[in-house]
Amino acid sequence: MSHVLAAVAWPYANGPRHIGHVSGFGVPSDVFSRYMRMAGHDVLMVSGTDEHGTPIQVQADAEGITPREAVDKYNRMIVEDLHGLGLAYDLFTRTTTRNHYAVVQELFTALFDNGYVIAKTTQAAISPSTGRGLPDRYIEGTCPICGYTSARGDQCDNCGNQLDPIDLINPKSKINGETPEFVDSEHYFLDLSAFADALGAWLDTREGWRPNVLRFSRNLVADLRPRAITRDLDWGVPIPKEGWDTKRFYVWFDAVIGYLSASIEWARRSGDPEAWRRWWQSEDGRSYYFMGKDNIVFHSLIWPAILLGYDGKGDKGGKPGELGELGLPTEVVSSEYLTMEGRKFSSSRRVVIYVRDFLERYDADALRYYIAVAGPETTDTDFTWAEFLRRNNDELVAGWGNLVNRTVSMAVKNFGAVPMASNLTPEDTALLETVRGGFATVGGLLENHKQKAAINEAMRIVGEANKYLSDQSPWKIKAEEDRPRLATILHTALQAITDCNTLLTPFLPHAAQKIHVLLGGEGVHAPMPEIVEVSDLDGGPGYPVLTGDYTVGAKWEPRELRAGTPLSAPTPVFKKLDPSIVDEELARLES
Ligand code: MF3
Ligand code: ZN
Repeated sequence: MSHVLAAVAWPYANGPRHIGHVSGFGVPSDVFSRYMRMAGHDVLMVSGTDEHGTPIQVQADAEGITPREAVDKYNRMIVEDLHGLGLAYDLFTRTTTRNHYAVVQELFTALFDNGYVIAKTTQAAISPSTGRGLPDRYIEGTCPICGYTSARGDQCDNCGNQLDPIDLINPKSKINGETPEFVDSEHYFLDLSAFADALGAWLDTREGWRPNVLRFSRNLVADLRPRAITRDLDWGVPIPKEGWDTKRFYVWFDAVIGYLSASIEWARRSGDPEAWRRWWQSEDGRSYYFMGKDNIVFHSLIWPAILLGYDGKGDKGGKPGELGELGLPTEVVSSEYLTMEGRKFSSSRRVVIYVRDFLERYDADALRYYIAVAGPETTDTDFTWAEFLRRNNDELVAGWGNLVNRTVSMAVKNFGAVPMASNLTPEDTALLETVRGGFATVGGLLENHKQKAAINEAMRIVGEANKYLSDQSPWKIKAEEDRPRLATILHTALQAITDCNTLLTPFLPHAAQKIHVLLGGEGVHAPMPEIVEVSDLDGGPGYPVLTGDYTVGAKWEPRELRAGTPLSAPTPVFKKLDPSIVDEELARLES
């Protein structure tokens, strides 16, 4: 047993979530956390909406509303989207809470006191037409390092280097195409170069990371330079220094600190305000950060640098801040991208399917299944409706759902209850052993973030159970004297189903709960998150959070089915989809 922090990237509160957003890390982080809880670990899964920065400003401008109105609207929508998918956060909060502001300011102050923050006058980009600061991400130009022509002001996606807008050759505003003007402005910089040695040493001790993530991060260590952590903006976390009230922290500085502030908020709400320390400051604490590949550098270098600086462990030394020494990530788990029918997701071009629209027409577990077997775990993958239909109908419905339904139906018809097994044959024992073996194999894969392999292994075992049933053909057994054999076959199949259901629970929690009930089980098998309206702990406006009690639910182990448990006629667990949905859905996309 250990304390496992599942830190999930914070979605910008600038629109409802589409399935691209939730495929790479949203659902996978839930699968991981559910498994780890079932395996007996003490999991804390936190995230929230990222409510500052340009993406918010731009969306608010587009709608003619204030950033505050925009984030209130989209925070709520996103909470509903994630709830609909059954993502079991201990706390899904937001970055506009007073608790978050205080934690961000505390980290900044300690970094400052330890000497890792430097003030510098730089050239900040402003829009000549509005006079407003022009955010880095919204300036595009040619990368001075590799010559890539669509580099952004904060980063070049081609060579991976961190940039400043002033470095770009031929910079243009992405908002209206104008050439930004650069004016003098004083800003705080985090001296990342002071962490190069510590980060390099830390990266050398990392094990089990996806190789591309480690390679990418290592390559960037050598070029670490001071990075501005403040901006000329009025929407963001205030800077706790006199004379800085026209500026705010840069969104990425405040957002990554959200992992810590959300853990603290969770602890404060739990009634034990110190409880967060079990994940951040204990020997057995492990932390896993889940995100898409465009976020790697912030989690594998910048966030660890902030933590090292807070702990007083960069080149300039120092001492830990008031909260005490904080732990660095155990692993940065990054996913690749999902495309939609061969194209990039784009809300403006209607190459998109929103979670909310999806859930109106299909079940959450149908999407969760698709993501698990065909999601962008280690390579970019494409979502197609034809493949969604095929996976749903041939694998989920015909493979797993039918096994459950026909077995329970036969048991109900012949016995009305779980029948008793007697005189097991080698075939019966072989199946039961295969299924029991799944707890180690599927569990090991899940623990190592190999979810595709894990669900394939679980579904292979389901296939073994299906094969067993065809081989034994219980439906052919009619004679009264063969009734004990019929009972044994059905008992064996039901036992296999019970355990397969547990193996599939992290992936398909809604279906798992239904199947648990079909098999005569009681109580909570797969706990679900709930939306709770809370008030801000420090007097700010109230907001909805996702939270839940996940101490209940099935354990990651075989559960012996008791003969005599009453069963009733099952209704189908999964919906078979009509092939016509493919054309219907394609018609909704822009052609
Ligand atoms: N909002 C960012 C994005 O969507 C992710 C922030 S993750 C955190 O790209 F680390 F900052 F929390
Ligand atoms: Zn470049």
